[in-house]
Amino acid sequence: MREKPVGIFDSGVGGLTVLKEIAKLLPNEELIYLGDTARVPYGIRSAETVIKYSIECASFLFKKGIKILVVACNTSSSVSLEVLKEKLPIAVIGVIEPGVRAALKATKNGKIGIIGTEATIQSGAYPKKIKSIEPEIEVISKACPLFVPLVEEGILEGSIAELIVERYLKELKNSGIDTLILGCTHYPLLKKTIQKYMEGIQLVDSAEEISREVKEMLSYQGLINEKTNSGGKTFYVTDSPDRFKKIGEIFLDCKIDNIFKVSLEEGKIK
Ligand code: DGL
Repeated sequence: MREKPVGIFDSGVGGLTVLKEIAKLLPNEELIYLGDTARVPYGIRSAETVIKYSIECASFLFKKGIKILVVACNTSSSVSLEVLKEKLPIAVIGVIEPGVRAALKATKNGKIGIIGTEATIQSGAYPKKIKSIEPEIEVISKACPLFVPLVEEGILEGSIAELIVERYLKELKNSGIDTLILGCTHYPLLKKTIQKYMEGIQLVDSAEEISREVKEMLSYQGLINEKTNSGGKTFYVTDSPDRFKKIGEIFLDCKIDNIFKVSLEEGKIK
């Protein structure tokens, strides 16, 4: 069981920010990544559709014999985590809770900002989680739909990125928050530009936080792979691998091999 892979899925390429952090923290683990590139973005879709897609992604990875499922996508985590937990007999970890815990630890004045896709913000998953732990905290949310295409175009710094960041974050900057959750897989790549604009505000990177949680869970379950020289990575996509490879290499800052196109119609769980 220890040598079984860790499964990670996302709507597309963005979840590679999560894979990168997990690989850093758990270098012996074999990682299987699924990017549903044929149906990205999830962030503009209804909860019902995102749940359906997420079940299909989870089923595909489960059939690969994974020991834990990491839902790297904030949109999926926001709306489908409970359903996936019910359906799978292995641990399922989403990005919301680790991000929330880190933000609660970071805030001094009790005012937290959250940015994410439209679907994530509309779901209210982050504020609900925050309030369930600390009801007094003030939460201000903002959807930033242009951040995803910006990152996918590789525009991470410079005047265009700065203008768009300012347009979305102006209100948050003046709202008195002292902590901001980057509630989307793509946003860590804009961290430098966001931090420059949100001077003095603590940014919470959910990719870093979830990787710590995965390590804790595996260690709690006695499932950490101690075999060195393992740590291979396999990538599956639902559309042509070319674009994934091109953008993915920006995300990972290294070459991506071992990439296969698959259909999620095969072998769904009920
Ligand atoms: N992976 C998505 C998220 O973290 C962003 C891209 C999309 O909208 O599918 O919310």
